[in-house]
Amino acid sequence: MSSNTPASRAWQHRAGELGDRLPTGFRIGTATSAFQIEGGARDGGRGESTWDAFTRQKGRILDGQNASVSTDHVGKLSEDVTLLRELGADIYRFSFAWPRLQPDGRGSLNRAGVAFYDRLLDELLGNGISPMATLHHWDTPVALRGQWLNRDTAQRFGDYANQMGEVFGDRIDAWVTVNEPATVTFNGYALGIHAPGETLLFDALPAAHHQLLGHGLAVQALRAADVRGQIGLANVHSPVQPATDREADRDAAALYDLLHNRLFADPVLLGRYPDPAGVFENELRFLHEIEPDDLRTIHQSLDFYGLNYYQPTRVAAGAGGPVSPDGSSPAMNRLPFHFEPFREHPVTGFGWPNAPEYLLVVLTELRDRYAEALPPVYITEGGASFPDRADRDGTVTDLARIDYLAEHLLAAVEAVAPGGPAEGVDLRGYIIWSLLDNFEWAAGYTQRFGLVYVDFTDPSRPRTPKQSFSWLQHVLSSR
Ligand code: NOJ
Repeated sequence: MSSNTPASRAWQHRAGELGDRLPTGFRIGTATSAFQIEGGARDGGRGESTWDAFTRQKGRILDGQNASVSTDHVGKLSEDVTLLRELGADIYRFSFAWPRLQPDGRGSLNRAGVAFYDRLLDELLGNGISPMATLHHWDTPVALRGQWLNRDTAQRFGDYANQMGEVFGDRIDAWVTVNEPATVTFNGYALGIHAPGETLLFDALPAAHHQLLGHGLAVQALRAADVRGQIGLANVHSPVQPATDREADRDAAALYDLLHNRLFADPVLLGRYPDPAGVFENELRFLHEIEPDDLRTIHQSLDFYGLNYYQPTRVAAGAGGPVSPDGSSPAMNRLPFHFEPFREHPVTGFGWPNAPEYLLVVLTELRDRYAEALPPVYITEGGASFPDRADRDGTVTDLARIDYLAEHLLAAVEAVAPGGPAEGVDLRGYIIWSLLDNFEWAAGYTQRFGLVYVDFTDPSRPRTPKQSFSWLQHVLSSR
């Protein structure tokens, strides 16, 4: 075995050593989202989301599956909280299903939905696990006409947030308003890879603006409800590189950096949209038609900034490259850029480069771009899919995931340590995607991100903790 195989690297990252290297007070958790794990699609008067509708359309989901049962978290809530307790996680990040709480996206909260999350919160708190709750993790009520293309959805979201704050505000430690508005905008409205399947390219920008406006209104609404928890959002960041030093590639990379990263961070942290790189001014003209009051609403002071980091992106000018981070769509052939692979890195199950050194780059970029405007940071998501299999004796040996997590955790804490390149970023914790294997959006059940294996062929959805689960247990208990 060469010294660089996953098994040997896992050995190097023996759990105890890693536990010793985590700073005191650094918090570790796991994340899930409602649509991806809950199932119970029709229970208790739950309404329909854009994703329920999307999964029914032929050809949208790689394995043709839907999430109406998924991991059956609705039926196995107590078992899942027991897993969290056994793991020793500090934080559990979950999402509220908006359509379970407001089946039509408006009006008073649905009692059965409230009762379900009451139970979840009681069990989490009873087991000493700190709840971090996301208000929108992509399952928008289908009853809201035009969804995020419609400005009214931002108002509806603010109203939902206010009611949620009133009901759950005494028990949630941290609120995430919106999750990855960048992914919703591009995959959902620009490229049609995700729900609702629109292929509007640059005309999808209003969906970005309305989610950001919804974020601002939700922060105001939660504060008006006097919630005791901290408030932030979760943005996905990817360090962007031009494929070559050619000017056209550099412009394309700057455009992608603007669209993917700065479009969502600048207005939230600085109160303004980024200036387009000259050549793409026309495509981005929507941003200059925004009312200044909207930017004031979006620019709320936050208790933390949630960073989702998975991978860097390499961008080249011109349409039609072979690789996209999340799938492909014919609409990509109409973009002025495409993605190029990172051949120098090993890849995860999704084909995403496994590149912990870019987590350091992203943290450094955040510090350099936002300086004192950057609140304390949580890495609200990080993790990897691998083609895990359960052996006959029930063990799931996922050494590659152990390596991935150990290396990313170390990269993060070293980046922000005194003398580190991102010194000054107040990094509070790392939340692993995901507790359970689950419905991975357009990839269906083909990508497994969990620390716990779920057998989707068995109607009772049995759970088997993977080796990465035991590894993390040791890391956490040896702190
Ligand atoms: C980010 C999303 O928030 C989450 O829902 C998804 O499963 C992971 N990325 C992995 O793709």
